[in-house]
Amino acid sequence: MRVLIIGSGGREHAITACVAKSKRVSRIYAAPGNAGIAELAECVDISVMDFEKQVAFAKDNDIDFVIVGPDDPLVAGCVDEFEKAGIPAFGPRKNAAIIEGSKAFSKDLMKKYGIPTAAYETFDDPDKAFEYLETADFPIVLKADGLALGKGVLICKDLEEAKAGVKEIMLDKHFGDAGNKLVIEEFMTGREVSVLAFCDGTTIKTMTSAQDHKRAKDGDQGLNTGGMGTFSPSPFYTKEIEEFCQKEIYEKTMAAMKAEGRDFVGTLFTGLMITEKGVKVLEFNARFGDPEAQVVLPRMKNDIIDVMEACIEGTLDKVELEFEDNAAVCVVLASEGYPVSYEKGFPIKGLEQFKDRDGYYVFHAGTKMLSGEIVTNGGRVLGITAKGENLVKARANAYEAAKWIDFDNKYMRNDIGKAIDEQ
Ligand code: AMP
Ligand code: GLY
Repeated sequence: MRVLIIGSGGREHAITACVAKSKRVSRIYAAPGNAGIAELAECVDISVMDFEKQVAFAKDNDIDFVIVGPDDPLVAGCVDEFEKAGIPAFGPRKNAAIIEGSKAFSKDLMKKYGIPTAAYETFDDPDKAFEYLETADFPIVLKADGLALGKGVLICKDLEEAKAGVKEIMLDKHFGDAGNKLVIEEFMTGREVSVLAFCDGTTIKTMTSAQDHKRAKDGDQGLNTGGMGTFSPSPFYTKEIEEFCQKEIYEKTMAAMKAEGRDFVGTLFTGLMITEKGVKVLEFNARFGDPEAQVVLPRMKNDIIDVMEACIEGTLDKVELEFEDNAAVCVVLASEGYPVSYEKGFPIKGLEQFKDRDGYYVFHAGTKMLSGEIVTNGGRVLGITAKGENLVKARANAYEAAKWIDFDNKYMRNDIGKAIDEQ
């Protein structure tokens, strides 16, 4: 089987590594890929949003199966274009990816079908939003409706901050058209858990759980980022919570999407908050998490192609997902200054240390090949993942492996997985 993977981040490197293990796969291509993916796949210089070129490439190169990694192409209808060309593609169609593409849509869906989430109101008129805030409780959460690179969420501690936030999102259009609509949401406190699930439109099967660390600095300080590190499984996601979520969240969401004529096929990412008043949905994404994929996929025992094919064919009920009975931790190595401003182009040393070392992975996020040398090419540069028989060991292994790599301006959080000590 010849597989094409769309994307160029750490998530797509983790997906590629999983695909490369499949006995059914003879050749892998990535569009556009990165310097790490290039060790497993042939990278072709086609952007994630250029569907026409992607489909033409797939036809010319006899591609049998496509996997779409990132949110932007999914929300814009990438999978629909491959389907029109008769090429199986894993991921939700445009009409289902809206569950991530519009926060107003996903909140309304949850309200209509009784799926637990924070109380909220939606606004398309900034004056109405300002008026609503006058009598609101603080802190409060503002969310730009559309995609905003994970940055369109503002937590505002008082009225003044919230008013500035509405101005930033709706009037100054900081996140572009993503801010045409605004969701104002009740602030929740609790433990966050990310749960990824394979879906075939009817059946939903969850993978092992994970927790992300979104803030840039130790102690959850600093700005929100794409994610600075993850661990899996989450010890806070108990059997009891899992059973509640299966019935009250995952199955209800699948049925809701079907009832709306938007069958969800692909990976559904549920961001959960375990609050004192029960478990609630923070957000849905229509794809694998990044860097959640980097700790979840290395622990998966199934052939990923078998599972993804079952999703497309509607036979997921016959698949039993299996995960290793161990743990994994991913520490992101970033460039100093991320997520605001940072320099690129520094040579990366130590990558060879990961060759043939079982249980250790270096997933490339922002790298490129320059004159035969791999250099930094983004804010998040690498994701260092290590497994261990439990979370404490996996964390020690990941931090040990993080030392093997060196590049100018290397920055990481030193407390990924610290929560493990509190349980
Ligand atoms: P989202 O993109 O919706 O996951 O939001 C990004 C981050 O903002 C989440 O991971 C939470 O840490 C935080 N957040 C979002 N919504 C809320 C909420 N209602 N209450 C508290 N924190 C929130
Ligand atoms: N790690 C969070 C996300 O992928 O959205």
